[in-house]
Amino acid sequence: MKDHEIKINFTEYDSIDELDSADMQLCREATEALKTSHSPYSKFRVGVAMRLQSGKILHASNQENVAYPSGLCAERVALFNWGANHADDPVEAMAVTAQTDEFQLTKPVTSCGACLQVLAEYEKKQDRAIKMLLYCQSGPVWVATGIESFLPFLFFEDRLNNQ
Ligand code: THU
Repeated sequence: MKDHEIKINFTEYDSIDELDSADMQLCREATEALKTSHSPYSKFRVGVAMRLQSGKILHASNQENVAYPSGLCAERVALFNWGANHADDPVEAMAVTAQTDEFQLTKPVTSCGACLQVLAEYEKKQDRAIKMLLYCQSGPVWVATGIESFLPFLFFEDRLNNQ
């Protein structure tokens, strides 16, 4: 019998004002993306902005549907758009934010497992770790780079190949 311990690291900033100007701008762009959220059912808006190596910024937001499981999280809307239209321009960083009129969010939103699995796929495809900036409107910012910081036991294709 052997116990293992996995540690993950992330950095907490008190607010976006402590970030460098490119990351601060990316967080502002994620806030801008909240406006396109289609979330009449949860009333929980999620906004994403992704900075590509070229400097291009892609925006995305959560898109819900009356048939609930047909909707999609903002992160996957962003990542699938990148995969379909910009995959030759690696993703450097992704800022995620959220807002609701129902209550005050005080902690950063953390991405769901399905979005993390998709993030892992594209990190592997582009052979480069993605910096995640998680923040809500009035609280701290959590920053971590690379899927291992979020999902150490993710499913990778080598598991399909008996390796
Ligand atoms: N949502 C996201 O967009 N990203 C996440 O990581 C978690 C949840 C969305 C899905 C749904 O539209 C709303 O937030 C409430 O779950």
